[in-house]
Amino acid sequence: MPNFHDFETFDKDLKVKCPYAQDCGGCQLLERPYKDQIEGKKAELLQLLKGANIPLPADIKALSAGASHLRDRLDFSLQDGRLGLYRKDRHEVLDIEVCAQLSPELQSWLTDFRQIQWPFKKGSFRLRIAPHGRRGVWIDLANIDIKTLLDEQNILKKLQAQAFVEIGQRRKVPVWTGAEFKLRDPEHHTWFQSWVGEVPVDLYCQVASFTQPSHKANKLICDVIASWVQKAPSSRVIEFGSGIGNLTFPALSEADSLLACEIDDLSLQGLEHSLNQLPPSLAHLKNRVQIYRGDFQKKLTQDFSDFDLILANPPRSGLMNFLNPLKELSLPQRPEFFIYMSCFPESMTRDLVTLNECDYQIQELYILDQFPQTSHYEVLTLLQRKKA
Ligand SMILES: C[S@@+](CC[C@H](N)C(=O)[O-])C[C@H]1O[C@@H](n2cnc3c(N)ncnc32)[C@H](O)[C@@H]1O
Repeated sequence: MPNFHDFETFDKDLKVKCPYAQDCGGCQLLERPYKDQIEGKKAELLQLLKGANIPLPADIKALSAGASHLRDRLDFSLQDGRLGLYRKDRHEVLDIEVCAQLSPELQSWLTDFRQIQWPFKKGSFRLRIAPHGRRGVWIDLANIDIKTLLDEQNILKKLQAQAFVEIGQRRKVPVWTGAEFKLRDPEHHTWFQSWVGEVPVDLYCQVASFTQPSHKANKLICDVIASWVQKAPSSRVIEFGSGIGNLTFPALSEADSLLACEIDDLSLQGLEHSLNQLPPSLAHLKNRVQIYRGDFQKKLTQDFSDFDLILANPPRSGLMNFLNPLKELSLPQRPEFFIYMSCFPESMTRDLVTLNECDYQIQELYILDQFPQTSHYEVLTLLQRKKA
């Protein structure tokens, strides 16, 4: 097993200080020592699973990359000149200058970004730091405000001098023609990073794309996934919710083939781009991947009996009908392994009930605390089908 950061190494009294603790709605657990927070998350998960009568492994393990300063992307709102997160007690944005959740590079980007005076009443921004340090911002405003921003020119010029800029729900890129700004189609750049063993893999996507929140914590996730896929060497993998390929690459290191199932076109374009840009030592992995686009919560036309391992990282709503074809198969036809990752334990518990009915048993269960100081956490579990 790789050398994970076990949460046992954290000081039991460690508390993270935040000047906004009383007001900010972003973190719910700042008052609790960090170790105590993780014990609380473990207890909550245990209660959920026990309540659903899911047989449990001997223990739930916990991993963490740190109690603070982990995030490499942030989503802040703008309201009447204030830039930050919503208050605990009312629907009003709290102006936030420093945030203990942010990596030092992201904090420094936020500090510079805050120099801009926004002439709009409301909007939202995502700031990112790429694995190689590049700054990015996604600006989401009402259409009329986007037009004003393009016409005003100075703010965009100032921003583009220090960061890559994306605008609106369609993630368009403002391009200066010499006389005016025009919006062009989304571009794929390296905003995130996956891993094959100790080799980093650049993931191409947009600033606005879904990614995990932290480069550091994501290395832990990739290590867990790779170590579990090793238990099924040379396997044929089917992946639900591949997105831009964050779990695809650690899984590919051991798998013979992988079918990446995903609904989002732009994410799949990013995955294709990443596969085409692999470093020479990993270029052979490209031939192991097939991409399959569709809404797999509704219907999957693939036959699960063609696979040895199912890898799932669904949205909040869980797998829904994706698991239906599994029920139709006899025990030996079902893939032997199932890896499930989720940041929404309620829908995951629902799916684990179905998997239990299909004779899968949890072998290993981890809480990966990539949202310290908040009530959120990532769950990773490895299940194995009973022998026929
Ligand atoms: C939690 S994200 C995981 C992405 C990726 N595994 C990662 O670590 O970045 C869930 C993914 O499921 C995809 N998704 C959501 N609904 C889907 C559906 N109905 N069918 C297929 N994929 C879906 C989303 O577009 C998203 O990429």
